[in-house]
Formats: sequence, structure tokens, C-alpha cells
Amino acid sequence: MAREPKNFDNLLGGNAKGLSDLQLKAHFTLYQGYVKKLNEIEQKLGTVDKSAPNYSFNDYSELKRREPVAYNGTFLHEAYFDNIGEPGTEPPAFFKTAIAGAFGSWDNYLADIKAAAASAHGWVLTCYGYADNKVRNVLVQSEHHVGLFADTHIMVAIDCWEHAYFMDYGTKKADYIGNLLQSINWKTVEARSKQSPMNPDAPRHP
Ligand SMILES: [Fe+2]
Repeated sequence: MAREPKNFDNLLGGNAKGLSDLQLKAHFTLYQGYVKKLNEIEQKLGTVDKSAPNYSFNDYSELKRREPVAYNGTFLHEAYFDNIGEPGTEPPAFFKTAIAGAFGSWDNYLADIKAAAASAHGWVLTCYGYADNKVRNVLVQSEHHVGLFADTHIMVAIDCWEHAYFMDYGTKKADYIGNLLQSINWKTVEARSKQSPMNPDAPRHP
């Protein structure tokens, strides 16, 4: 069954600090495009000829190569829109304490996000790594899947692609990040973090 894009109109009207309705609506349209392409790829993969896959070019091979772009383009945007829109809220105690433990302090974490955002032209994701039990900010660039660490649990997603802020900020990306960090929906982030081993009561990862 075809996937429907989620509605994020709750962010309009100033609920995502520093992002205008014009900017957000343009971004929603881009996100909807990824959902449409993911549906198209999945539908075509159901019927495409798999008898002659090839590294240089083949219909099946090319669909498989582009599948993670549409998949991550869809779900990273949903993670991003889901974790913004609560301006002025404080991070809940569990997440703040756990992150402070991982980064040395909460301020160190925010400084690392800002430095990562200045380094990125794609995504900045705060992730828990099951492989080494570390929390780190990860840059995902070039495509929506390039740079994503294996076996990680995404807790914070920040879109640093220019399309996310350029109408409102031009080249002033640091101002976009500064305002966005004041608009994070920390309750959503905390709920995600509690699903990771940062929470001793979380179900064990297989
Ligand atoms: Fe985006």
C-alpha cells in the first residue's frame, strides 16, 4: 500500500522558531517528493526484471541504488519535523543528564551540534551507537544515506541542507541552527532516547 506523507502543519504560524511558513511549506513539498519517490521505487521493485543485475546500469540495480536515498529522505525528514516545533521548552532531565554524561556537559553537546552543523551540508544526527555504546553527532551528507553509521539509534535530527533554511536565512546558517535549537521538541527526543540503552530499563537491543 502506498505510503502517505505525514502532515506537519502544526509547525506553521511561528511554532518552529525562525522558520517562516513560506520556508516550511517549500520544505514540506520537498519531503512529499521523497515519499512519492519511495512509493514509486517500492512499486517498481515489485515487478522489475531481476535476471540481469549490473553495476554499470540495470533497471533493478538502479532502483536498489536509489532506494536508500528515498527511504532516508522520507524518514529523516519525518524525524526532523517531529523533533521541532516546541519553542522555549527545556530538555527533560533524563535526556539532559544522559547527554551531559556522554559529552562531558550539556553545553559541550550544544557546542558540538553547532560545530557539526557548520561542517555539514546535509544532516546532523545525534545517535546512540549500539556497536560501541557511544553517543555522537553524525554528519550525513552528499546523499541522505551517505555517512549514516551502521547500527545506530537516531535521537535528534537536524536538517542542514540549504533548502531547509535558505529562504529565511540566506547564508547565515549559524543563525538558523541557533534558533532551531531553541525550538526542539525535547519530549520527542527524550522518548527516542528512552528506547536506547541510555535508559537502563529499555528493552535489550538484539
Ligand atoms: Fe530537507
